[in-house]
Amino acid sequence: MMEKKIVYFEKPGKQNTEATLRLAFERAEELDIEYVVVASTTGETALKAIEMNRERKLVVVTYHTGFYEEGENSMQPEVEEKIRKHAVLVRQSHALSGVERSISRKLGGCSRVEAIAEALRALFGHGLKVCVEIAIMAADSGAIPIEEVVTVGGRSRGADTAVIIRPAHMNSFFNMQIKEIICMPREKRLD
Ligand SMILES: Cc1cc2nc3c(=O)[nH]c(=O)nc-3n(C[C@H](O)[C@H](O)[C@H](O)COP(=O)(O)O)c2cc1C
Repeated sequence: MMEKKIVYFEKPGKQNTEATLRLAFERAEELDIEYVVVASTTGETALKAIEMNRERKLVVVTYHTGFYEEGENSMQPEVEEKIRKHAVLVRQSHALSGVERSISRKLGGCSRVEAIAEALRALFGHGLKVCVEIAIMAADSGAIPIEEVVTVGGRSRGADTAVIIRPAHMNSFFNMQIKEIICMPREKRLD
């Protein structure tokens, strides 16, 4: 048996970014976890993580090309260049939506994988859903091994959730385990 600290933020959102990253790196160092995986859309959170990282291997997972505009990336090229100097950047199809999102948009309804994503968002908050999703994406792109890593996600922008996760590939989702929650918002809704 072990007792551990979990930090709960009052509300989800970007205001929790610095504290989340600090706690994530602290726990990774304490447990000698090699990889920290951070979600970043514009690169802002990734750059903060780079600043705060001392000796972890940093992986940044970003939105797939075309998420907002066909053929366009969510990160400016000069920001991306900076990030690539200090971290591995993963940009690939989103594991918890995929082609199913197009089908739901066109024909309505909801796929099984979208139901998993929505259940994670509702029960644990958007940040934790992102922690799960980026673990799969980083594993599937070969950026992390299948061993305990720290992952960091947030609510739209910034970071508010960090966990220790044993990742899994997309084809073996149920092998994934969330080992520890480092921090998360206590209230999951924005209003
Ligand atoms: C693959 C991926 C999926 C994401 N899904 C969600 C989501 O379902 N809900 C949400 O609020 N934010 C989502 N995000 C946003 C992240 O949690 C995080 O807040 C954001 O990428 C930080 O971006 P920034 O560097 O511009 O601050 C997602 C990010 C990525 C990279």
